[in-house]
Amino acid sequence: MQRNWDNLGQNDPLWAICTENDRHGNQWDPDEFFATGREAVDEAVSDLVGLGIELPADGRALDFGCGFGRLTLALAEHLHEVVGIDIAPSMIAGADLHNQVGPRVTYQLNEGDDLAAFADDSFDLVLSIIVLQHIENRYKAAYLREFLRVLRPGGVAYVTIPSHPNLKTPLGIGFAVLPNRALNYYRKKRFGYDGLMELHGMRREEVEAVVRAAGGDVVDVRPDGSVGPAWHTNRYVIRAG
Ligand SMILES: C[S@@+](CC[C@H](N)C(=O)[O-])C[C@H]1O[C@@H](n2cnc3c(N)ncnc32)[C@H](O)[C@@H]1O
Repeated sequence: MQRNWDNLGQNDPLWAICTENDRHGNQWDPDEFFATGREAVDEAVSDLVGLGIELPADGRALDFGCGFGRLTLALAEHLHEVVGIDIAPSMIAGADLHNQVGPRVTYQLNEGDDLAAFADDSFDLVLSIIVLQHIENRYKAAYLREFLRVLRPGGVAYVTIPSHPNLKTPLGIGFAVLPNRALNYYRKKRFGYDGLMELHGMRREEVEAVVRAAGGDVVDVRPDGSVGPAWHTNRYVIRAG
């Protein structure tokens, strides 16, 4: 997993994060790329406000799977301190280079299947958008449990997770019937990189069971288009108990 993402981070990082077809081959303009992060974070914040959840301006957020800091930098407009973590050294290096906010935003490599670098009850918000879909479910569940551990009681996680393929699309049928190995063969052929972006869905019932068992509460679930039309995806707001 780390090798794949590190390759992507070296070869075509902005496209690996926002995979619009016409931006493949380092075609993203960085300003436009970071503007999409501001939009996504503003949308998440107003989504939370709509649920009666105000983020404390003097609070601390964790951006899990931060990539180049697209969302991390935008989060710093809403909370005092933001930590971005990623499994790929190349992504962390790129995020550091683009840190225009300064010491309120920091980036850390996180290579394990836990968040051992962070204390219990140490964040007000954990944000993870278009990340957990790439992570096998046993690790996904472990990270969800860790999100609840590092959140202070009452803190919230805002995460996107695909549930299952959309069988009304040809690609969705492909995801449903082909084994991951075959899909990876196709990905390599199509995109030509060593890097592979695997997709792993987790059904809503399973997400809710993991959250409940870890003492959290799913406050709100909405359909979300972030993984594209071939998947049924949900955006979850989860509160730590
Ligand atoms: C599609 S990008 C999204 C980046 C960022 N969330 C954004 O929206 O701009 C997925 C990111 O998740 C990171 N990632 C994948 N698996 C991870 C893991 N197990 N732990 C931390 N980061 C991971 C990848 O390196 C990559 O930077």
